[in-house]
Amino acid sequence: MSNVLRLQKRLESGSSPISVPGVSVRTFNGPDDVDHWLALRSAAFAEFDAGGRPWTAADFHREFLGKPWWSAERLWFAEFDATEALAPGEPPGAIDAAPRIVVGTITLARSGRPPHDHASVAWLMVAPAFRKRGIARALLATLETSAWKGGERLLTLETHASWTAAVRLYESAGYVRT
Ligand SMILES: CC(C)(COP(=O)(O)OP(=O)(O)OC[C@H]1O[C@@H](n2cnc3c(N)ncnc32)[C@H](O)[C@@H]1OP(=O)(O)O)[C@@H](O)C(=O)NCCC(=O)NCCS
Repeated sequence: MSNVLRLQKRLESGSSPISVPGVSVRTFNGPDDVDHWLALRSAAFAEFDAGGRPWTAADFHREFLGKPWWSAERLWFAEFDATEALAPGEPPGAIDAAPRIVVGTITLARSGRPPHDHASVAWLMVAPAFRKRGIARALLATLETSAWKGGERLLTLETHASWTAAVRLYESAGYVRT
């Protein structure tokens, strides 16, 4: 890939939590989240990946569960509470079965050998209908605080020079080109 951009950020502390109305951040919570993650991947990368095949649960297992660093605590999801979208006075019954919608995700991956003082930001994705609300920023702040608490001091990532939203997000969050 010719336009790969490598960025890094040296952590000096954890990050202040970022709150987005109606949105909460939680960690991986079981098999349903495999489907949530796959749906997010299809939606989030549709604009870049038109010719690629859709990923399956087997791909998810290879990418995450098969990795030595895998832990449910290193994969986060942002959930939107659909009851927040009700008009004033509208009863909660107006919302269909599942009021919580998974709208974003991020992963804290690891490479290299102990003492594991550096880690990688991976698979940041926000569903197109929920972008530009600060969800990616909130996910990144959660990841950075977790990394800090785990003793990881250098975060690295790879993105693409042409993925403007991602590049601007990372640079505005303090990541610098290497
Ligand atoms: C990149 C992505 C995760 C951003 O998600 P988001 O929730 O919309 O981002 P936020 O609302 O938290 O925006 C944070 C900052 O990102 C930048 N940004 C976000 N969307 C942008 C856009 N369309 N154009 C330019 N900058 C943008 C801005 O700096 C923004 O800060 P601001 O709102 O103060 O201007 C989302 O666009 C996405 O899923 N893209 C496809 C997948 C992808 O590129 N993932 C990254 C792989 S490395």
